Amino acid sequence: MLVDSYTRQVKDLRISVTDRCNFRCTYCMPLDEYQWIDKREILTFEEITRLASLFVQLGVEKIRLTGGEPLVRQNLDRLVGKLSGIEGLKELCLTTNGALLAEKVEGLKQAGLRRLNVSLDSLDRDKFRRMTKRGDLDKVLEGIFAAKRHALNPIKLNAVIERGVNDEDILPLVEFSREHGFAMRFIEYMDVGNANNWTSEKLVSKKEIIAKIHSRYPLKEIGRAQGSAPSVDYEFVDGRGDIGVIASVTEPFCSSCTRARITADGKIVTCLFSEVGHDVKQLLRSGASDEAILELLGAIWLKRADRYSLERLEAIRTATYDPKSHKKIEMISLGG
Ligand SMILES: C[S@@+](CC[C@H](N)C(=O)[O-])C[C@H]1O[C@@H](n2cnc3c(N)ncnc32)[C@H](O)[C@@H]1O
Ligand code: SF4
Repeated sequence: MLVDSYTRQVKDLRISVTDRCNFRCTYCMPLDEYQWIDKREILTFEEITRLASLFVQLGVEKIRLTGGEPLVRQNLDRLVGKLSGIEGLKELCLTTNGALLAEKVEGLKQAGLRRLNVSLDSLDRDKFRRMTKRGDLDKVLEGIFAAKRHALNPIKLNAVIERGVNDEDILPLVEFSREHGFAMRFIEYMDVGNANNWTSEKLVSKKEIIAKIHSRYPLKEIGRAQGSAPSVDYEFVDGRGDIGVIASVTEPFCSSCTRARITADGKIVTCLFSEVGHDVKQLLRSGASDEAILELLGAIWLKRADRYSLERLEAIRTATYDPKSHKKIEMISLGG
């Protein structure tokens, strides 16, 4: 069994299929100009599928396609078809901003996609536009309901909560998800990358989010799915659905983190807050055998010693944390 230096197995793989995005969310990638990856450096579907199969041999059970915005990558359904055929893979998911979902969901479903996460930070059209800079709420809602009609299940809705921006949207989002049978996942605003100018004042903690929801719709804690999921889940006491909170800042889950990431240009990244990735594309494109690539992937995982969120919490507690003290890879590049 392959474990890293804190005895964590590799079980989940996030694959960024592109660093391009049709939104410019203020908390993720607000910059219009950015050093985009050259098209020739982007992994082909064949290269992604080969790497994914090798990761499954190493113990990965779940793959999430992400980006950037995965649906801006042409013919993504072809990739979904290839990945869903990998023997031993238990779950294939997609995280999207939903803007292109209405037109693409049918093809994705036919190719084998069964579950979906859609980012939805507000139900207020103007605020949604302000937060995403380019997003059209109606298009996203159209996509979410199209996914529901095509029976994708579960459909989880992700909202990053930022103080003074959308903390008033928590209850409307809960009510919307309860009414339509979606599962809300609230995400603490994280200091991922450097472009978003994160400060701890903008953070709304899991504790606050849960208290706000619980005072209106009583909750009962369920815990983390499989013991290692990033989200702590709660069910509504009245039986009408569940919600979850991903609290990477205030309740770090480094000790149970089993996730590896592949960037769109073929780097393996072992933590969301990494400064660098490990290049595997060179080996892929030099005609290396599966054994040689497996050896490299295994060696990267064996050496993994990341526990960034635990260290950050300690630094926040002692007021010594400087989010700009090192240059983290932007979320849009490493695959959120
Ligand atoms: C980077 S996005 C990529 C997929 C797709 N473009 C989307 O927005 O769903 C993946 C997830 O990361 C979340 N995210 C981005 N920046 C974040 C931040 N600073 N803190 C917490 N979550 C963030 C997004 O809200 C989204 O749910
Ligand atoms: S959160 Fe998703 S939609 Fe928003 S800028 Fe980042 S990658 Fe794009």
